[in-house]
Amino acid sequence: MSQSQSRQPQADVDAQFLQRWSPRAFSDQPVQRQTLLSLMEAARWAPSAANEQPWLFLIPENEEALQRFRSLLNPGNQRWACRAPLLLYLAGRRHWSKSGQANYTYQFDCGSAFMSLALQAGKQNLFVHPMAGFDRERAYEVLHVDKEKYDIIIAVAVGYYGDAKGLPQDLQEREHPSRRKDLAEMFS
Ligand SMILES: Cc1cc2nc3c(=O)[nH]c(=O)nc-3n(C[C@H](O)[C@H](O)[C@H](O)COP(=O)(O)O)c2cc1C
Repeated sequence: MSQSQSRQPQADVDAQFLQRWSPRAFSDQPVQRQTLLSLMEAARWAPSAANEQPWLFLIPENEEALQRFRSLLNPGNQRWACRAPLLLYLAGRRHWSKSGQANYTYQFDCGSAFMSLALQAGKQNLFVHPMAGFDRERAYEVLHVDKEKYDIIIAVAVGYYGDAKGLPQDLQEREHPSRRKDLAEMFS
């Protein structure tokens, strides 16, 4: 994608890391179930503490469910994310399945699963956009998730890239891959 050319690496790195970004301009081209399963398969192979695999992906099973999923988003996210043909949520299991003790790294593990999904999406010409901006309290109710067991961490818009001109003007101006701090700032 041409927008990724605005990203300049500061060391040799595979192009997929620069090409992944979180757009807001999605097309209405549907994501086929087999394609979605490939994204899930990539997430499945993510590392996790003690191989606990604490992630749970919540996927709308029909159009009506998709509308309910969308209704949970903050208004600022609804402005653009409702155009994405698919919206899913990622929850993490708070406790170890065997002992029931608190698992302090489930969010880290779920982040790894998200990134695997995001990179696989790129391989399939798809984009994903994670969002923390949604109504957490209502999400447990609407998504039928047990709050004691799971933490609903993130919403993820999934789709093919669309026409940025379809976005509201202020979002059109922000529709480009972001930059990063200098590499040297990451370590000391
Ligand atoms: C945990 C998390 C929460 C985020 N929440 C939102 C959000 O609510 N709305 C939004 O538009 N973008 C959200 N983003 C997207 C970030 O703004 C974006 O990833 C960041 O600016 C880097 O840009 P890039 O993903 O295009 O490289 C979120 C990203 C992460 C990782």
